Amino acid sequence: MPGGSTLVLALALRLLLPCAGQSHREEAERIMTTTPVIDGHNDLPWQLLRRFNNQLRVPEANLTLLNDTHTNIPKLRRGHVGGQFWSAYVPCDTQNKDAVKRTLEQIDVVHRMCELYPETFACVVDSAGIRQAFQSKKVASLIGVEGGHSIDSSLGVLRTFYRLGVRYMTLTHSCNTPWADNWLVDTGDEPALHHGLSLFGKAVLEEMNRLGMIVDLAHVSVETMKMVLSLSKAPVIFSHSSAFSLCPHRRNVPDDVLKMVASTGSLVMVNFYSAYVTCGDKATLADVANHMDHVKKVASAQSVGFGGDYDGVPGLPTGLEDVSTYPALVAELLARNWTEAEVKAALAENLLHVFGKVEEVKRRLQGTAPRETPIAFEELEGTCRTSHGYSDGASTARLAPAALALALLRSLLS
Ligand SMILES: *[C@@H]1O[C@H](CO)[C@@H](O)[C@H](O)[C@H]1NC(C)=O
Ligand SMILES: *[C@@H]1O[C@H](CO)[C@@H](O)[C@H](O)[C@H]1NC(C)=O
Ligand SMILES: *[C@@H]1O[C@H](CO)[C@@H](O)[C@H](O)[C@H]1NC(C)=O
Ligand SMILES: [Zn+2]
Repeated sequence: MPGGSTLVLALALRLLLPCAGQSHREEAERIMTTTPVIDGHNDLPWQLLRRFNNQLRVPEANLTLLNDTHTNIPKLRRGHVGGQFWSAYVPCDTQNKDAVKRTLEQIDVVHRMCELYPETFACVVDSAGIRQAFQSKKVASLIGVEGGHSIDSSLGVLRTFYRLGVRYMTLTHSCNTPWADNWLVDTGDEPALHHGLSLFGKAVLEEMNRLGMIVDLAHVSVETMKMVLSLSKAPVIFSHSSAFSLCPHRRNVPDDVLKMVASTGSLVMVNFYSAYVTCGDKATLADVANHMDHVKKVASAQSVGFGGDYDGVPGLPTGLEDVSTYPALVAELLARNWTEAEVKAALAENLLHVFGKVEEVKRRLQGTAPRETPIAFEELEGTCRTSHGYSDGASTARLAPAALALALLRSLLS
């Protein structure tokens, strides 16, 4: 009899098979009700600048009604987005110009977004804040600065960004900074200036570790990735990068780096941009799942996350058109036999774990003084800089030997 009922059950399952996709979808929705997705990178703030010059209260900018972006409030709800690193991105053409001011404005627009839609967004600054937002069904909103050019080579600006709530910084965007090399070094389009980080770049990294700001390695060169992974006192993230061995685009992460990601407890939040997923114009949700499978296989299930890059890219895979589609991708992972624990890890727990480690390192370094040594003036570029502090310091340095000579002369004369 037991054998007979097993057979009946098996037959019933066969008949239900066409509905398997649907049940994975229901399973995905169930999981995401308690463990929503924390996405590593969304460029909605850039869209708000481009479209509305950051004026949130013009009627067209209403985030509930906005309908020609990847992101709006109803889509975030349908997508079970529970945490989002909003990108404070300003392009590389601001480097040595108004990068700092424009970055401050992008930080400000995220804060204003949280204030204008308090029923949807909760601006938070730590892992505990993310968990609280999950409880109150809000979108935990965090700020990531995308590109080291945004600090204009200043540790004071870096620290001020932290105080304003910035919790990750991508060390470069698609340009070298005076202290770090970007991925275009690996295509040959830019020269390797630092072979990773310069001495000052290492000071930036140390200061980020001390502050408790997550280091983001999306957009950097492979040498920068490897140097940071071996030097950082805390795990790091790739907020929006995919796997190089599936699509050999230099924005993606090669397998030897994935191994270092695993050994450091770091995280790759997979980018959905078609050009990084298939190296072509077209891609599907299954192609993105292949990248997630690959990171899981080469690194581990603790090393994989979601970094959609929504509203920052022109081409997205079929099935992942906007932020409402995360549950469809989760259903695909379930169909590929990812366990519930693995899915929850990728959705939120891996990021929370990395963030927790970063916060732990901050606590451990609490007695360490802030770094004060500025970048050498000669290492800065651009013509519109003043040299206050540097010029005084330089003249003091010039005076020192003269004063010494004078003292010597006096002692000889006396
Ligand atoms: C956006 O539109 C919705 C629906 O019409 C309305 O309830 C809400 O008050 C608007 N919000 C803002 C900030 O304009
Ligand atoms: C999209 O929003 C605009 C402006 O709010 C509105 O005029 C238009 O009808 C909307 N389109 C759709 C398809 O909802
Ligand atoms: C998932 O597991 C089932 C049952 O063990 C197996 O039949 C199926 O081939 C697996 N699917 C994949 C994509 O590995
Ligand atoms: Zn980017």
